[in-house]
Amino acid sequence: MKKKVKKVSKKLIKSKKTHKKDISKPSKKNIQKKQVISPKILRKKKIVIGNWKENPATSEDVKNIISGVKSVVKDLKKTDIILCAPHAFISQVSSSFSKNLNKNVSVGAQDLSVKKGGSFTGEVSGTMIRSVGATYVIIGHSERRAVGETDEIVNTKLLLALQSDLKPIVCVGESVRDDQGEYLSYIKNQIKSALNGMSPKYADKIIIAYEPIWAVGSKEMQTVSPYEMHQMSIFIKKYLIEILGLAPATMVPVVYGGSVTAENAAAIVGEGEADGVLVGRESLDLIKFKQLLKNVDLVK
Ligand code: PGA
Repeated sequence: MKKKVKKVSKKLIKSKKTHKKDISKPSKKNIQKKQVISPKILRKKKIVIGNWKENPATSEDVKNIISGVKSVVKDLKKTDIILCAPHAFISQVSSSFSKNLNKNVSVGAQDLSVKKGGSFTGEVSGTMIRSVGATYVIIGHSERRAVGETDEIVNTKLLLALQSDLKPIVCVGESVRDDQGEYLSYIKNQIKSALNGMSPKYADKIIIAYEPIWAVGSKEMQTVSPYEMHQMSIFIKKYLIEILGLAPATMVPVVYGGSVTAENAAAIVGEGEADGVLVGRESLDLIKFKQLLKNVDLVK
């Protein structure tokens, strides 16, 4: 297995030489350390990611969401929350949660610039995002891919995020499920190109969000069944073993997103064995979101 990981990372190093801090170069020490990690240390905590999208409208509204989330976090034993706010509110959200009292709450951004800085009006770099308190960033969300974000851009953003000490939440998902299973190779390719050039030593920094496009924002609240999620989770994890090696792959949580509600979240995480959920609309409805958090937390 050691040999295999070395071979993979060597290949990856060749394909990415442009970034200054070479995040593709795994040290021998690190690979060996990760290789002996037993699968027993697989994360026990579930992850609930709230993706606020272009909401809420004002900083006053943000205050309400924060106090609602605060009222429930102290009761959560097995759930980590990542609130992905618009850039304008990241600083407000991160300063509202105490690093000591709210250890299970982190803040994320919903995108980062494809550039490190410079004359790019309107763009926000990974370093800027990190400096105002975010530790995660969503990358390759289908709503961004829909406005022209290619697999190549997603990959550049992933590498830039890691360089900026941000943990990427990489979204992948098909637009339709065909009977021949073509969507499976589509997802494989999305993962392969998103992680191109990333050393396996960064595996513990990334989250894969499986978000079928037909389920994201669906009016009918269409989702995968828990059984389908279980299958998809196994499929993605097996592929991660192929490209990262066994021990690094076991560190990557695979979560589900797309019309997650307080009613369906527990089954997706329980029977579906997702490592968590990514919630859009319901993360802004405080009554429902609080219930969703409690339901996920109760999953054994
Ligand atoms: P939704 O959004 O929960 O509103 O479908 C999911 C997402 O942000 O991907």
